Amino acid sequence: MKRKKSYSKKRHKKQGKGLTITLLVSAVIMIGLLTWLGLNNWDVDKSIKNAQEAIGMSVPAEDETVAPETDATVEDDEKGNEQEEIPDQKSQEQTTPPSKPAKSDSTDSTKSDSSIDNGGYIEGQVLPKEPKFINGILLANKKYPLPATYAPGEDKAARAAFEKMAAEAKLADFNLNAFSTYRSFEYQTTLYDRYVARDGKKAADTYSARPGYSEHQTGLAFDIGEVNFEQHFASSSFGETGAGKWVAANAHRFGFIMRYPKGKEQITGYMHEAWHFRYVGKEIADEVFKRNITLEEYLGVQ
Ligand code: DAL
Ligand code: ZN
Repeated sequence: MKRKKSYSKKRHKKQGKGLTITLLVSAVIMIGLLTWLGLNNWDVDKSIKNAQEAIGMSVPAEDETVAPETDATVEDDEKGNEQEEIPDQKSQEQTTPPSKPAKSDSTDSTKSDSSIDNGGYIEGQVLPKEPKFINGILLANKKYPLPATYAPGEDKAARAAFEKMAAEAKLADFNLNAFSTYRSFEYQTTLYDRYVARDGKKAADTYSARPGYSEHQTGLAFDIGEVNFEQHFASSSFGETGAGKWVAANAHRFGFIMRYPKGKEQITGYMHEAWHFRYVGKEIADEVFKRNITLEEYLGVQ
């Protein structure tokens, strides 16, 4: 009996010790998990991704997360490189939005419909000495390039409008960021050349502007994404996200238009880009949005 009692006492002691160890291990794991989550801004997806990376598990590359038939691999490289780009802070003359739709200048020498079968570009066209403004709106597309020396930096009004939009988006729980805005002629050259080397000229021309032809060189184009969701940067998948839908539905209220909409590829010369927005001022943006037209259609320069 005595032996039995002491045996049971021992067993209880052993069980108690086991429980203490289990509790301790659980507490350590919980603290570790909470610390890791905290380090990753309480973002569960990010925490899991970073943990996988830390233990050497393979995480899908950016390119693999994008639909291959559209902007697969498109501008993904920009994601990594935009941080390197330090925007030129030189101020730019404000573009003055016209009060009503404008017509293109009949004296325009850069347009030549007869020779447009070159990725949408005009064969043999040389870059102009001056940028093209139509009724105060700066135009940069495959037919209206910019001088190589045009380097206004990021537009201040566009930045202010973006910040206002981002503040309102935050109320809807979307933390927007502009991952690519002003790009110099030189930087666009680097990007375009890289895409040509990777995908060939024909494919590159559908999603990346040749140097001198990028709207990013105007300082008025903002590539918009959501903080901590880099997988949707410069990807058609951004358009499927809550943030992408919010921006598509609200950007015009802040003076931005979706510059390369779906179904307008023949007009804009580029595939649909759910992330690329152009600042034109509230009045024009409102009209472009409500009429469901492109900047080219608004300006009458198709
Ligand atoms: N992705 C746009 C068309 C640009 O390169 O400017
Ligand atoms: Zn863009």
